[in-house]
Amino acid sequence: MLFDVNNVCFTVRNTQILDNVNLHVEAGQSLLLLGPSGSGKTSLLNILAGLSQPGSGEVKYNDQIYAALSQSELDRLRANNFGFVFQKLLLIGHLSVEQNIGLSQSKADHQRIKNLVDDLGLSGKEKQKARDLSVGEAQRVAIARAVVHNPTVIFADEPTSALDDINAEKVMNLIFDQAKKSGATVVAATHDARIKGMFDNILEIA
Ligand SMILES: Nc1ncnc2c1ncn2[C@@H]1O[C@H](COP(=O)(O)OP(=O)(O)OP(=O)(O)O)[C@@H](O)[C@H]1O
Ligand SMILES: [Mg+2]
Repeated sequence: MLFDVNNVCFTVRNTQILDNVNLHVEAGQSLLLLGPSGSGKTSLLNILAGLSQPGSGEVKYNDQIYAALSQSELDRLRANNFGFVFQKLLLIGHLSVEQNIGLSQSKADHQRIKNLVDDLGLSGKEKQKARDLSVGEAQRVAIARAVVHNPTVIFADEPTSALDDINAEKVMNLIFDQAKKSGATVVAATHDARIKGMFDNILEIA
């Protein structure tokens, strides 16, 4: 079992955001968290990724219970297994495309970065500063950065909500292509029902 979530509740300032979420995702199966703005998708994504803790309930990744891990064990699990495409892309503006892609690596694998630059249509932009990229280019850099270490799970928060139909499909195909190449699975959160059909599992949250 890739993710096993049992009776997860999450409360922020006396407001219950997540009420008894149960979720069981097999290895290799993609997952979409679908719901309107403010329904708790990002909150649940962060809990699945071990970035935040639920108020109650249990989260397991590959039979490891997050709550039983020390902070450094959890940090290592996340660094080794997960890649993130955040809702706010979080590129470092004054660093170049290739520097941003290699950011999370202690030793940048130049060949891997070059392959990703080519794959994601960023050839020729390697040295360009992230702040000078178009939004679409910045998003592709964020995707490259998320997959550079061949994670098992690629988390993507609202990867398509600001895009038109054609670009939404393109971006999802890029994410799924990269996932397939490294045998990763995709966990995404969105209010964009257009991408529903691309996922094995859908959890609708209200
Ligand atoms: N750290 C926090 N402090 C205060 N409120 C929070 C915090 N985290 C989440 N919330 C609130 O919890 C609710 C759910 O937030 P969340 O970001 O999970 O929703 P979402 O479904 O991802 O929304 P969107 O589609 O707009 O990204 C929102 O009302 C938000 O304001
Ligand atoms: Mg969100």
